[in-house]
Amino acid sequence: MCGIIGYIGDKQAQPILLNCLRRLEYRGYDSCGIAVTAGSIEVYKDAVRVEELTRVMPKLDGMAGIGHTRWATHGEPSQVNAHPHLDCSGNIAVVHNGVISNFQLLKQQLTGEGHNFISQTDTEVIPHLIEKYYDGNLEKAVETALRDIEGSYALIVLMAGEPKLVAARKDSPLIIGIGDRENIIASDVPAILDYTDRVIYLEDGDIGIITKDGIRVRRHGTKVNRKEHKISWSVDDAQKAGYEHFMLKEIHEQPKVIRDTLGEYIQAAEPVVDLAVMRGDIESVLILACGTSYHAALVGKYIMEELLRIPVRAELASEFNYCAQTLARTGAIAITQSGETADMLKAMKKLKDMGCLVLAITNVVGSSASRIANQTIYTRAGPEISVAATKSFMAQLMVLYWLMMSYSKVDARRLTDLIMGLRQLPEKVQQVLDNEDKIMEGTKHLSGYENVFFIGRGINFPIALEGALKLKEISYIHAEGCAAGELKHGPFALLSENTPVIAIVAQDNTYEAMLTNIREVKARGSPLIALAEEGDGAIGQLADSVITVPKVDAIFSPVVNTVALQLLAYYTAKHRGCPIDTPRNLAKSVTVE
Ligand code: M6R
Repeated sequence: MCGIIGYIGDKQAQPILLNCLRRLEYRGYDSCGIAVTAGSIEVYKDAVRVEELTRVMPKLDGMAGIGHTRWATHGEPSQVNAHPHLDCSGNIAVVHNGVISNFQLLKQQLTGEGHNFISQTDTEVIPHLIEKYYDGNLEKAVETALRDIEGSYALIVLMAGEPKLVAARKDSPLIIGIGDRENIIASDVPAILDYTDRVIYLEDGDIGIITKDGIRVRRHGTKVNRKEHKISWSVDDAQKAGYEHFMLKEIHEQPKVIRDTLGEYIQAAEPVVDLAVMRGDIESVLILACGTSYHAALVGKYIMEELLRIPVRAELASEFNYCAQTLARTGAIAITQSGETADMLKAMKKLKDMGCLVLAITNVVGSSASRIANQTIYTRAGPEISVAATKSFMAQLMVLYWLMMSYSKVDARRLTDLIMGLRQLPEKVQQVLDNEDKIMEGTKHLSGYENVFFIGRGINFPIALEGALKLKEISYIHAEGCAAGELKHGPFALLSENTPVIAIVAQDNTYEAMLTNIREVKARGSPLIALAEEGDGAIGQLADSVITVPKVDAIFSPVVNTVALQLLAYYTAKHRGCPIDTPRNLAKSVTVE
């Protein structure tokens, strides 16, 4: 995934483009660049972060320009592969997010026609195609060029001497921010919040023609109207607010996120949500997701099976795309923070082709997932900037709890207890956060290890997976999440005094089995950190150290345990001096398969 930006207005474009790129950096950060025009086109780009580019680049003059922050797919991060890319004449510059799947063929054809390529990227064919078709009308040339292109794109075109930008999207997000005598095109909302809160979401197949005073949208050669939306996120939501990293800020926002996400429902006396996917004679539920969202899907499976008593499968969206099964009487749920994960979008389309109704749970209004789904429920996490997902996972859990309580088969008394338990969660999460210093101290030594295991059972098995993913992603320590019962089926071979094990011990029907696992681990000499509920006397006798979490109903234990493990990962990565918000090789949302 990459971030793209375009500005046209009555101000100098360079500082605005660089500021917007800083806000888009979470989408890709191995190289960046901008192009600005005041007559001819000037390009400045390199395989550096935006901060470094800003420091070293000369002043470029012009009130229209485009910018890009890259997560390399075709060609290594280098100056020549960084965007913007130019045509032969140097008059057409393009920034692009997505993948042009037929670029080899196009490159071959264009080379035969005399075009000269200098990069290894797929993107470079776009300015050359536009150059080929240009006969005095830029938007027509872009439209024609796009007919030759297969794959996905969000792109912005800048041409020397043209007082407009041309933008287009297919399977990659693109928005237009409406300003006062200026307009900004961007991959994502956080990029433009400093300038405007009024946006238009472009749809697949749209071509936007943007001048400083106006926006036109065309589709298949005809003008279309796209509704203006007001963004509820504020500039502060997308800033660090005094925290050293976005991740830490986002971890601390979780009590508010729980309140906001449940806010519109929790006032109701009883949970009642009408879900299209649950109507009719549904016999089972399939939940699809990737990464951290997949761990929310797994927790969802346990919640639903307990409350609804129907079979639920949680599957990786990326693998579902290879399944040859047919789905009968199955309700489908797609969980995705960004709403743009390529594997997820493909899986959702496949589900719809199979005739399934799909419910999307996503954090981004107007995202591709919300457009494909039959029904969408939005989480209220606000913008999540750190690559590591934290508060969005929490918001996903809240939606799952609430939805499933709406369809619950448990008796009235149990339901009342559950609603009460849910209402107390912001306070319980705050208690974990108040324990931050102890968690930081207690896990200092973890930063010295190279391999760590996380174990859990039942509804906390997915939390073991999530704890491991968080740790490996930001600290670069190899971490493996394991169903505690599976340890002795192989992973035991790796246990030693150099391999700490973090055991999640919940007060439910898994408790005794977890204690047995802990004893087995200790017998192999591994340092053992237990995550246990306050008041658990037995655990202190067995574990080398204990992180305590507040008492909650066992069904909510993933909530408090997750927050403790997020802090553990954060401080371990901090001790190791890692770039926490922007881990190497990763991007916030994975828009390629
Ligand atoms: O936007 P999505 O929820 O679809 O993203 C899924 C994963 O890419 C994402 O959760 C990823 O695993 C996170 N970086 C983990 O912290």
